[in-house]
Amino acid sequence: MPADHNEHHLDPRLEAVLKKEISRQRDKLEMIASENFVSPQVLRIAASVFTNKYAEGYPEMRYYGGCEYADELEQLTRHRARKLFSAEHANVQPHCGSTANMAAYLALAKPGDTILGMSLSHGGHLTHGASPSFSGRFYNGVSYGVREDTELIDYDQVMALADEHRPRIIVAGASSYPRIVDFEKFRLAADRAGAYLVVDMAHFAGLVAAGLYPSPLPHSDIVTSTTHKTLRGPRGGLILSKQLHAKAVDEAVFPGVQGGPLMHIIAAKAQALAEALEPDFIDYQRQILKNTARLATHLMDAGYRLVSGGTDTHLVLVDLRPKGISGQAAETALGKAGITANKNVVPFDKTRHQVTSGLRLGTAALTTRGLVESDIDQVADFVVSALRSVSDDQALARIFDMVRAFLARFPLYPGIDF
Ligand SMILES: Cc1ncc(COP(=O)(O)O)c(C=O)c1O
Repeated sequence: MPADHNEHHLDPRLEAVLKKEISRQRDKLEMIASENFVSPQVLRIAASVFTNKYAEGYPEMRYYGGCEYADELEQLTRHRARKLFSAEHANVQPHCGSTANMAAYLALAKPGDTILGMSLSHGGHLTHGASPSFSGRFYNGVSYGVREDTELIDYDQVMALADEHRPRIIVAGASSYPRIVDFEKFRLAADRAGAYLVVDMAHFAGLVAAGLYPSPLPHSDIVTSTTHKTLRGPRGGLILSKQLHAKAVDEAVFPGVQGGPLMHIIAAKAQALAEALEPDFIDYQRQILKNTARLATHLMDAGYRLVSGGTDTHLVLVDLRPKGISGQAAETALGKAGITANKNVVPFDKTRHQVTSGLRLGTAALTTRGLVESDIDQVADFVVSALRSVSDDQALARIFDMVRAFLARFPLYPGIDF
């Protein structure tokens, strides 16, 4: 151990892992719908000296000294979040989307209360009342789903379940729903049942910021989000609310579910929010929609069935049942072909969650790399070729070579080591 703290060497084993990871991100087509590539500025700021600072509490009300710049930073970040989403109140401290949801429920409900959320097997998130999660353990989780004929949210069922169970909270928003959610209908169901409405916009927050997806803000009591999906910020969470709930939300985040906030990540959120407030962020989100629509058309033309028959968002959900391929086999084959994606349940799928019959594909990360519709045609060809070669490792390796050559045209983080 060197006497001088400044003389530590980068641990070589660690450096090797970090370098492998940046190569993986550069060489493969990133199609996980919940991922993105932050700007080099966000990346730099996420590694800033604010990582050293404890700032339990809130601006002007901290439990530690030396928080004057942490206060300035958090105020700035809150201001940008409020401005971007036209929100009355913003809490930028949640470490992730799950703790944002945990805090939202803590702010509005008591343990044992009923939470009506979208079923995990129809596209909802674990934290929307599913039994393995805190949300289904501490609360009474009841779930709605999609209609079998349209694969769109069954709003009649939402109304009926709200009337029957009188939930304390209704949660709208999902992880693998490719369509626009009708927040007005959810508000109606909540009002009839005397429930609060929490919207989890983690997936489509970037589209909302750009005005390309209806804003849930006017209809909801609390809106939660992650900052790292279409919003293209660092990994983290965010809560927006009416002023009425501001105190309850803040107390729920700290000391309710978290200790000291990650100030370096809050700084990176501030940078990402500044980027999202720039006019070219709208062009970026518009391109995501164009790219996803193109991917959907291409896959359907190639004979693949998409859940709900298409997409309005940054993701598509491919139902592989007609092709006799499991989601797991598809994910593995795509991985060998240099395409990173995830297996996913499709509604009314009887297969185990570890196997599934679906494949979720998103374009937010590829769009950040600069791909436009004509490039997406090529990407869709790679996907289709890989799905036609699931058990042919040599063919998959040949596709990977082509993917690597193709991606060389779209440099990722030039000059950055990891
Ligand atoms: C809709 C939704 N909410 C919440 C989360 C949880 O976010 P995190 O993984 O940051 O806890 C996710 C994660 O994918 C999500 O899709």
